[in-house]
Amino acid sequence: MNFIITAGPTREYLDPVRFLSNPSTGKMGFAIARAAVRRGHRAVIIAGPVALKTPSRVKRIDVVSAREMFAAVKHSLSSEKGECVFVAAAAVADWRPMKCARRKLKKTQMSSVVKLVRNPDILKQVSGCMKVGFAAETDNMLAEAHRKCREKGLAFIVANDVTRHGCGFGTDTNCVCLVRPDGSCQMLKMMSKLSVATRIVREIESLYRTSQDTTLKRRRGRSEND
Ligand code: PMT
Repeated sequence: MNFIITAGPTREYLDPVRFLSNPSTGKMGFAIARAAVRRGHRAVIIAGPVALKTPSRVKRIDVVSAREMFAAVKHSLSSEKGECVFVAAAAVADWRPMKCARRKLKKTQMSSVVKLVRNPDILKQVSGCMKVGFAAETDNMLAEAHRKCREKGLAFIVANDVTRHGCGFGTDTNCVCLVRPDGSCQMLKMMSKLSVATRIVREIESLYRTSQDTTLKRRRGRSEND
């Protein structure tokens, strides 16, 4: 399969020296790319500004803002041949300043000049492939993850409680729960991000096999009725 993976933060500049962002390092998304190629898949990472080396055999596209990330995801999905899965591990800024000032804003201008507008929801808007999301939560993790899974039309969502030690932003480990559209979930123990990534890739493979079997059975049923 072709894995298209977003990783890291986005930056939304308000002037040449200031931006809105978050502490994502890209470790989780890069681990998924590494796990995918190890298991014989092709992988493209679309990365926000991060300081990580590109894993071998992985194609990398660097972006800065959410809108650039969205354009790169759409381009990759339309140019990859064969079955694609989109895994959104990036922490995309939900808002951006309406305008980016050409020159550094004065402190006194900030609150009157900076107006925020919504960024596109990349994961929600993409279609035509299997979609897997992440949910970085501080409260009501399972309920929030389940809501996002249904609203964004996902095969499943990987929920992480980012307040827990060793989980979420910047860590080498993660402790996640795989939440499905029917609300069922599977809590995994704390492990390295690479092990979490391998578990996610296996889950995707298993869902893909099941969907192939169902399609085959439907086709057989139809030809027997003809
Ligand atoms: O990069 P690391 O330091 O390793 O940290 C890993 C991580 C904490 C960033 C990762 O495990 C994680 O949880 N990523 C998702 C963070 C997030 O933005 O969650 P969210 O609940 O706000 O978004 C839900 C989903 O929609 C995510 O898959 C997100 O990529 C996607 N989304 C959100 C907003 C938007 N405008 N476009 C999107 O595609």
